[in-house]
Amino acid sequence: MASAPWIDPLPLPHRGSNPEAAVGENNSKETQNSAVHSAIARAKQEWECTVDALTQVVCVIDGARNVVRANRAIETWCLGRVREVQGRNLHQLLHPRCDARSCAFSAELDEAWSALLAGGAADFEVRDPILERVLSVTLRAMTPTVQDGAERPTADLAVIVLSDITELHNIHADLEAMNEQLETRIEARTRELNASRDELSALSTQLMTAQEHERKRIAQELHDSIGQSMSAIKYSLERAVAIFQGEGMHAATELLKTTIVRVQQTLESTRSIAMNLRPSLLDDLGAVSAVAWFCREFNEVYAPIRIHTDLAVTDASVPESLATPIFRTVQETLNNVARHARASNVFVSMQSTDCELSLEVSDDGVGFDPTDLRGASADGGHGLRGLRERASKTGGTFSLRSRRGCGTVVRVGWPVAHARSKAESASQTGFTLLELLVVMVIIGILAGFVAPRYFMQVGKSQVKAARAQIDSFDKALDQYRVDMGRYPTTEEGLAGLMGSPPGEPGWAGPYLKKAVPLDPWGHPYVYVSPGEHSEVDIVSYGKDGQPGGTGESADVTNW
Ligand SMILES: Nc1ncnc2c1ncn2[C@@H]1O[C@H](COP(=O)(O)OP(=O)(O)OP(=O)(O)O)[C@@H](O)[C@H]1O
Ligand SMILES: [Mg+2]
Ligand SMILES: [Zn+2]
Repeated sequence: MASAPWIDPLPLPHRGSNPEAAVGENNSKETQNSAVHSAIARAKQEWECTVDALTQVVCVIDGARNVVRANRAIETWCLGRVREVQGRNLHQLLHPRCDARSCAFSAELDEAWSALLAGGAADFEVRDPILERVLSVTLRAMTPTVQDGAERPTADLAVIVLSDITELHNIHADLEAMNEQLETRIEARTRELNASRDELSALSTQLMTAQEHERKRIAQELHDSIGQSMSAIKYSLERAVAIFQGEGMHAATELLKTTIVRVQQTLESTRSIAMNLRPSLLDDLGAVSAVAWFCREFNEVYAPIRIHTDLAVTDASVPESLATPIFRTVQETLNNVARHARASNVFVSMQSTDCELSLEVSDDGVGFDPTDLRGASADGGHGLRGLRERASKTGGTFSLRSRRGCGTVVRVGWPVAHARSKAESASQTGFTLLELLVVMVIIGILAGFVAPRYFMQVGKSQVKAARAQIDSFDKALDQYRVDMGRYPTTEEGLAGLMGSPPGEPGWAGPYLKKAVPLDPWGHPYVYVSPGEHSEVDIVSYGKDGQPGGTGESADVTNW
């Protein structure tokens, strides 16, 4: 290796000379001197090698910011030959043809120099547009030297260390972007959660009111029909007893016959009330039969409205979980037609395709403006809102079309696969909550991690870069898991973060901003899932690319 001029050659009298020449002088002091000189030469070479091995530019500069010495990194940074840069101004060396008066680096360097003279810290970071690097600059006064037994600072000289932290800077920017993205997602989720909480509380209030209404209605019905009939039956039976005792058997028989008719009517009333509360047909035969029965009833009670039915579905083809929602939808929509529509015709249709089961109730009545329903107060109608809620809870899609003077159409469609697998929908709800939790944990980790960690003084920048990259994989993998419910397999590897596995609709990547990088030493990261040390293991084997090792060759891992 060529000798670097980090330490000037000392003016040694016999440096490199023939030792036999010294013998002639016969001077023991000479021999001593020679040993000292070779020790110094060895130390000098060791020191040169050490400083030249650094990837950072290390220079000694004087008060005019001129380079007194520089290490070999000046060549790897393409700033010139080591010997040629001596005596040149550092700023001009870094920025040939740059006007120091308008240069951020130059201004920062001057400021740091003043801080150094004042005895303060003199470190700064600067994005250098000319070198196209982000630089971390450390400036230190030369250590005091001992001369004549007294400690004196070396006059007007300082050591400056320039480290290239571009990669770390970019990783930090990526992490910040990811952080921001996560925060946006959390905000959106929180908004959704708040909205569903409000909806839930409105619905529970409505539920209580609806229950109260229902109790009142049943009480009224019992009072008006059964109660009154039973009073009449009791009265008739008492009269029959009196007649039996007074006028004899024959006279009482007539009265008992009319009482039996009344009991029969009461029985029918009871059946009818029970049927409306929950038609036994629904349990005995199924939804389609119950709907057909309800339509017939409706036809009898509201004779002026003609009802047309097209029930092209069999009881057996309706999943059990949909029987009640279908019946309640027909009940509520037909009641609405009777109460609000002033319609002449109403159409009830049930259809089934390979993927959907649909129910549609339409009328040719007065219609209404559906936007009026939005923001309706708690004492407004609950029927349609309940139907919408019931549809969404059972995986269906509710739609309402109405316009003043143009009738009303209510339609609910249930995807058949969804209806068959309610467990699936339950697991999805849980997943949303899990997602929220994971995202919150990630934010917590990032908050404590990013700021202090990434702008620490750069020492072993490659090890740090590897660690930071592994951390960014970790975050990305957590997001992947939020979406997919699992980590990529060992076979899928980290590449799974960038491309969707076939047939996995949950994948919402890419989860990294750029393609999966090699580690800072040019080796691929090793990814194992499930991992031996944590849920997944990510390893860079360091500079040597082999497991184990120390210093820069040590493994960098995520556990
Ligand atoms: N078929 C229809 N024709 C005309 N207007 C309708 C029809 N269906 C609903 N509406 C209008 O929409 C409003 C809301 O209906 P919704 O079923 O939610 O409540 P409601 O029937 O008034 O009360 P509830 O159903 O709670 O007893 C009704 O008050 C009515 O103005
Ligand atoms: Mg209603
Ligand atoms: Zn400049």
